Amino acid sequence: MSVPSREVHLVARPSGEPKPADFALVEATLPDPGQGQILVRNDWMSVDPYMRGRMNDVKSYVPPFRLGEAMDGGAVGTVIASNAESVPVGATVLHSGGWREHAVLDASQARVVDTAIAPPQTYLGVLGMVGLTAYAGLKEVAPVKEGDVVFISGAAGAVGLIAGRVARHLGASKVIGSAGGPAKTRRLVEEFGYDAAIDYRAGDLPGQLADAATDGIDVYFDNVGGDHLQAALGALNTFGRVALCGAISQYNATEPVPGPNNLFLAVGKRLTLRGFLVRDHQHLAAEYVPLAAAWLRDGTLRSEETVVDGLDNAVDAFLGLLHGANTGKMLIRLSS
Ligand SMILES: NC(=O)c1ccc[n+]([C@@H]2O[C@H](COP(=O)([O-])OP(=O)(O)OC[C@H]3O[C@@H](n4cnc5c(N)ncnc54)[C@H](OP(=O)(O)O)[C@@H]3O)[C@@H](O)[C@H]2O)c1
Repeated sequence: MSVPSREVHLVARPSGEPKPADFALVEATLPDPGQGQILVRNDWMSVDPYMRGRMNDVKSYVPPFRLGEAMDGGAVGTVIASNAESVPVGATVLHSGGWREHAVLDASQARVVDTAIAPPQTYLGVLGMVGLTAYAGLKEVAPVKEGDVVFISGAAGAVGLIAGRVARHLGASKVIGSAGGPAKTRRLVEEFGYDAAIDYRAGDLPGQLADAATDGIDVYFDNVGGDHLQAALGALNTFGRVALCGAISQYNATEPVPGPNNLFLAVGKRLTLRGFLVRDHQHLAAEYVPLAAAWLRDGTLRSEETVVDGLDNAVDAFLGLLHGANTGKMLIRLSS
């Protein structure tokens, strides 16, 4: 049974802002699964900021997407044919064959997930890589101690919303978030448990941060880089810690971006700034996933999602993500 499927190819490497013409939606016919393989109907796929980096032909911690081939990324789907004893037809699996409606995979590349704990798409968000990123950043990279004031940028995004709740669970006395625009910042406080929120689009980030954190900050979780990192360095208290998670303000830059002009503050304040990749913290998954499942059950963590329907709209969703079209995890629903 060969299956017709559609997939999204990268057809040109973007310079600066990606545009729809850099991508193509292509019809493909998949082979039958071979021995040890499965055929998956993708029900959900993820679009993530790191994919922007993979569109450049540069050496990085993940290889670049190849031109004229299907892109890949996180996806959750239903097994519709199986030649592997370990993964039966009907199982829900998490794998990295996204950006396509169907995928033929080695069973070893797919992980069966338990949809009795949470809906399938949760494994692309709170219970997946995104949730573990938030947890690793605040548990291990820039550990939160009881009573700390924690500042999180990109606070209304997938990692940021979870980080806000994780900070509280780890004992933060005050959690401050920044996001773009009054609607998102209002929601941070009214719905998502932040104590204070900063609208970076309103300007004067250092001033807004000083007003929100009158006693300074102890931990900064950096999703944005640039002006946010500079403001945080100014607000950090002695022996403060920074988890350098991402720098989304720079992903479309076409020229080298200047660093913060106040990095020397790290010396006098004896700060620790540590970059990290979630892949190096997989050992925390066994601790985090049951905790997150319990927090989802007791309502102290929410799986907030922005859902876009259909592979036809996946590129627009990705482009929108880079401009804040999402609150929480940006997801594409491919099949319901
Ligand atoms: N180190 C790791 O292992 C790891 C793993 C996962 C993710 N990350 C990083 O974590 C960060 C968040 O990822 P995510 O998946 O949770 O994405 P996300 O925050 O859900 O989506 C991106 C958000 O970035 C914000 N943004 C865009 N341009 C901005 C700018 N110039 N200044 C400030 N904010 C801007 C937008 O929100 P607004 O509306 O608020 O602007 C948008 O919603 C990214 O930097 C990503 O690369 C790192």
